[in-house]
Amino acid sequence: MALRWQLLKRTVDNAKSALRHNQPGISLSGYFSTSPSFADAPPRLPPFDYQPRPYRGPSGDEVLLKRKKFLGPSLFHYYQKPLNIVEGKMQYLFDESGRRYLDAFAGIVTVSCGHCHPDILNAITEQSKLLQHATTIYLHHAIADFAEALAAKMPGNLKVVYFVNSGSEANELAMMMARLYTGNLEMISLRNAYHGGSSNTIGLTALNTWKYPLPQGEIHHAMNPDPYRGIFGSDASLYAKDVQDHIEYGTSGKVAGFIAETIQGVGGAVELAPGYLKQVYDIVRKAGGVCIADEVQTGFGRTGSHYWGFQTQDVIPDIVTMAKGIGNGLPLGAVVTTPEIASVLASKIQFNTYGGNPVCSAGGRAVLNVIDKEKRQSHCADVGPHLIQRLRDLQQRHDLIGDVRGRGLMVGVELVTDRKNKTPAKAETAVLFEQLRELGILIGKGGLHGNVFRIKPPMCFTKDDADFLAEALDYSMSRL
Ligand SMILES: Cc1ncc(COP(=O)(O)O)c(C=O)c1O
Repeated sequence: MALRWQLLKRTVDNAKSALRHNQPGISLSGYFSTSPSFADAPPRLPPFDYQPRPYRGPSGDEVLLKRKKFLGPSLFHYYQKPLNIVEGKMQYLFDESGRRYLDAFAGIVTVSCGHCHPDILNAITEQSKLLQHATTIYLHHAIADFAEALAAKMPGNLKVVYFVNSGSEANELAMMMARLYTGNLEMISLRNAYHGGSSNTIGLTALNTWKYPLPQGEIHHAMNPDPYRGIFGSDASLYAKDVQDHIEYGTSGKVAGFIAETIQGVGGAVELAPGYLKQVYDIVRKAGGVCIADEVQTGFGRTGSHYWGFQTQDVIPDIVTMAKGIGNGLPLGAVVTTPEIASVLASKIQFNTYGGNPVCSAGGRAVLNVIDKEKRQSHCADVGPHLIQRLRDLQQRHDLIGDVRGRGLMVGVELVTDRKNKTPAKAETAVLFEQLRELGILIGKGGLHGNVFRIKPPMCFTKDDADFLAEALDYSMSRL
């Protein structure tokens, strides 16, 4: 086995230099003639007509040294040999040597429209040339225009927008609103959820890997309605009953609110059991609470079938939080709610220095325009099922794949060592993760046990990219 890995590593290392620029016409089959079992050439990145600039900055090793010296010890990096990514263009990234990678994780789902999208770049640079400071104390059209455009994307009476700088801030604000509006304290979130790393949102977060042992502040974690791993399968009403039980037996009978991602992101692209949110929203509202949808990863058309993830469950939340894709990489977040709920914040000064600054607002508005102009939602509806089907085909041939799930371009592949017990294939996931990088694919890894590949590329990801990803996974798995 060790010898097979050494051979594979050597052949992949040799192939790497040839793959570096992915020049059409380079045949890699020669690199794989060292062993008959590795006769098949590795799959190749789809062609892409773009030449990255020559990089003259510090090397990855130098950057790593400096990070270790000057940045917090909690900072982690992907890959045994961390990548020094220095340029991006649409769905591709380039490292310091100019090697191209398919970005199947979009910088943790932040890049919605593509790296350095020209329209968004243009909006940001033009605004930067004119003015950039915190301007809600003066008038500026950018924040008002952006708020109007975002409100137009919301259903029901979700018409009041607050801008913040991150997903954690958005969820902090949403939780504060819920508590002030209802006069209740207790919140309910789901196990396996991630809602942020600030001191309050870490309480909503239920993934132990991310949680510091601090007081959680009146937060209950309900059973995760996970159709694959949950004990009730896809039976939404049994999971909803758990929320009812929390309210009845764990609180005074009243709650401030319920928050859920509509597809869990960090938790491993887990779609909630169909019909779950509808039932839970009813229960929570009867207990005096408001319902918060965390759209930090699922919003802006990524699910393909809908613009917002909550629409896949046919509900309208009272508060919606968003970040990441809203800014195509800019530090930007938002909370959208009803005028009635928003009115509770009017009793004090509610202020966020950089929230809705002109540059981020111009960029965010450009993101909304690009998603519409380039029909990114319907693109996700087209490419997502193709990718999922390719992955399900692989599942037929590789026992390691326990589950393929997701919607549009928000996809999870869960690896297990045995399908019956669903034992997480942690080591195999880690090896394949490195192998995919060797083949030129940067993917996300997550889930409670770290055994889920998270595929959430920029929404310009194509069917050719999907084929390449599936072939690379097949290629690596066949050699495990
Ligand atoms: C669903 C969800 N909510 C909230 C957050 C927190 O966002 P941020 O890291 O911008 O604070 C994240 C981050 O990964 C997330 O995935």
